[in-house]
Amino acid sequence: MNTLEELNVKGFIEEAIDPTLDLFAEIDRLKKEKNAVILAHYYQEPDIQDIADYIGDSLGLSQQAAKTNAEVIVFAGVHFMAETAKILSPKKKVLLPDLKAGCSLSDSCPPHLFAKFKERYPNHVVITYVNCTAELKAMSDIVCTSSNAVQIVNSLPKDQPIIFGPDRNLGRYVAQKTGRELVLWNGACMVHEIFSQQRILKLKSQHPNAKFIAHPECEEVILSMADYIGSTTGLLKYTIENPAKEFIVATESGIIHQMEKSNPDKTFIPAPPNTTCACNDCPHMKRNTLEKLYLCLKNELPEITLPETVIQQAQKPIERMLEISAQIGL
Ligand code: 13P
Ligand code: SF4
Repeated sequence: MNTLEELNVKGFIEEAIDPTLDLFAEIDRLKKEKNAVILAHYYQEPDIQDIADYIGDSLGLSQQAAKTNAEVIVFAGVHFMAETAKILSPKKKVLLPDLKAGCSLSDSCPPHLFAKFKERYPNHVVITYVNCTAELKAMSDIVCTSSNAVQIVNSLPKDQPIIFGPDRNLGRYVAQKTGRELVLWNGACMVHEIFSQQRILKLKSQHPNAKFIAHPECEEVILSMADYIGSTTGLLKYTIENPAKEFIVATESGIIHQMEKSNPDKTFIPAPPNTTCACNDCPHMKRNTLEKLYLCLKNELPEITLPETVIQQAQKPIERMLEISAQIGL
C-alpha cells in the first residue's frame, strides 16, 4: 500500500493486480460490500462507462452526487467533478481513481488571480462554469454547466452585470445566445480549443450528409460550422433524435462510445484536432483506468478532502444552480 505522500506524488494507488482477476466482477463485489456508487463522465474509457452505475454530463453527475444514498462515491471523472460531489455530499467518502486527473480549463483560472479580477468589477454577479476549483466556486454567486449556462444567465435581471469564467468560449457562446454582455475570464479547454477548421471542412466535404455537432467549449470558428451545439448529454440526445446516419463529433472522443451504443445503425466520426492525431482525447480524463478504479475502491484511496469553509461557501452557488435547473426541468 502506498503512503499518503507517495499517493500525492503519483496520484494513484500502485499495487500489483492478479492478471487473472475478473476486474468487472471484483468491482461489482466491492461496490456492494462497501455500499458504493460509481459515477462516470462520458469522456471516460468504455470499460469504465460500462461498469458505472450512472453515466452523464457535469449537470447529471452533480444531480446524482447530491441525491445518492450510497456511503461511498467513486467518481470516474476529473478532480473538479469529484470536488463538486464532495461539496454536495460532504458526509460521504468521495474517491477519485487518479488524483492527478485534473483539467486544463480549471488550471487556467487560479483562484488568487480571479479574486483580483473580481475586484475590478464590483456590482457584478459571478457565474462560474463548473469546470473550476472548489475555491473558485466558493467565490461565485452561481455555478453553471454547459447544459444550463444560457438559462442561468437568463435567470438574472436584464440589467444585472455579470462576470463569467473560466471558459471564454462557452462565455462567448452564452453571450451570443442571451444577447447580453458578459465580462469573460480568458480561459479555455486544451481539448476543445485545438479542433482544426481545415480538417473538419475536409471531413464535411467527404461526408456531405453528415451532421456536424460541437460542444460549446469549442472555438467560435468551429461553432460557426455546427448544425447543433450542446453539452455532452445534449449532443448524445441529438444523435438519437436526428434522423441523419452520420455525425462528425467535435468534443472529447469518449462520448462516441455512448453514441454508438444508443445508435447501432449510425456512424460517428471524431472531429480531428490540428495535430496528426485522428481524434481528440482528454489526457486528464484518460488518466483513470479500470485498474486504478478497482484499486481505489479496494483501498478507499485516493480520497477527496476539502476545508470545511470551502465546502460551506461553495455549496450555495452549486445548490442555486441545481434549484434553477429543477425549476426549468433540467
Ligand atoms: P459536459 O459533460 O457538462 O458537457 O462537460 C464537458 C466537459 O468538458 C467536462 O470536462
Ligand atoms: Fe477539462 Fe477539457 Fe478535459 Fe473537460 S475535456 S476535463 S474541460 S481539459
